[in-house]
Amino acid sequence: MTVATAQAHPNIALVKYWGKADTAANLPATGSLSMTLDIFPTTTTVRTTDDHADRVVLNGVERDGTVRERVVRFLDHVRGLAGRDDRAEVVSWNTVPSAAGLASSASGFAALAQAASEAYGLHLDTRALSRLARRGSGSAARSIIPRFAVWHAGDDERSFAEPVEAPAIEMVIATVDAGEKAVSSREAMKRTALTSPFYPAWITSTAQTLESALEACRAGDLDRLGRITETNALRMHAVIQGSDPSIRYLTPVSWSIFDAVARLRAEGLRAWATADAGPNVCVICPPEDTAVVAERIGALAEVVVARPGPGSASREPAA
Ligand code: ADP
Ligand code: DP6
Ligand code: CO
Repeated sequence: MTVATAQAHPNIALVKYWGKADTAANLPATGSLSMTLDIFPTTTTVRTTDDHADRVVLNGVERDGTVRERVVRFLDHVRGLAGRDDRAEVVSWNTVPSAAGLASSASGFAALAQAASEAYGLHLDTRALSRLARRGSGSAARSIIPRFAVWHAGDDERSFAEPVEAPAIEMVIATVDAGEKAVSSREAMKRTALTSPFYPAWITSTAQTLESALEACRAGDLDRLGRITETNALRMHAVIQGSDPSIRYLTPVSWSIFDAVARLRAEGLRAWATADAGPNVCVICPPEDTAVVAERIGALAEVVVARPGPGSASREPAA
């Protein structure tokens, strides 16, 4: 029996992943770009056991159904790589709201990839760990990486995340609703690809958008990166709304935050909004504008400030 504990943080995409090229290996249709946060860590312990079944405990509650199935499927892949078939107990604590559009699947599967690979005796380098985390949740490939990450589209070998330099930014995260979303990212992504007539345009435009965003990063051009970030988020929500039955993640409060950010820009501040698959809005800005942005957005929703954070890491198991 072996035990390993690991920690990982959520990441918020500046250029979004929304569509798969392959569901079995969880390969994305396009590359994406993100910032890993320094807040909201997930801590996961994996203990191999003699039991006949895997156990999954998330935030103190033993899980069955989809949450457990996703973890078991992931552990099956790890066991395949390790040439082992012993079961495990997975105990995980999220500090980020689960399934609310603040990337719990990213911190969750990044922490699980790190802890499970160690518990099963795999010695993976960062690239292999990112590829492994990707299988649990695509966005988790990026939470292995500190600060800013680009996750490449490509085949199983080539689809990993790696670090990228970006202009100095901080993120004001507005929690509009910490409850679980009605439609998971996975489900909504599938429906978008199958039914949204805008999907082909989303895919071709996002591939180009990523190139522009990486160019802006190389040039240290925050204004360009900011505009790209906000436009890409709104395009993603548009393609999602184009699904049948339609899916709408942004609420009137979310929209009021996008409007407030536009007003801040009109006043000369540098701030741009984005939102993942949920109602919560993340505003990026240069560090010198964070205090004002947090104060103004704080009038509309509860806010916390996040900075670029660490990649996944091993931890001492709790006693
Ligand atoms: P989010 O916006 O939070 O990433 P998703 O719909 O992408 O929402 O994924 C939420 C799902 O991710 C949960 O229902 C659960 O299956 C899985 N998940 C979240 N946190 C963890 C965790 N710590 N360990 C394992 N699985 C997790
Ligand atoms: C809107 O990574 O949660 O947050 O691979 O099916 O687990 P699965 O999906 P997931 O999707 C993330 C979607 C997003 C955009 C992003 O993080 O790039
Ligand atoms: Co997710």
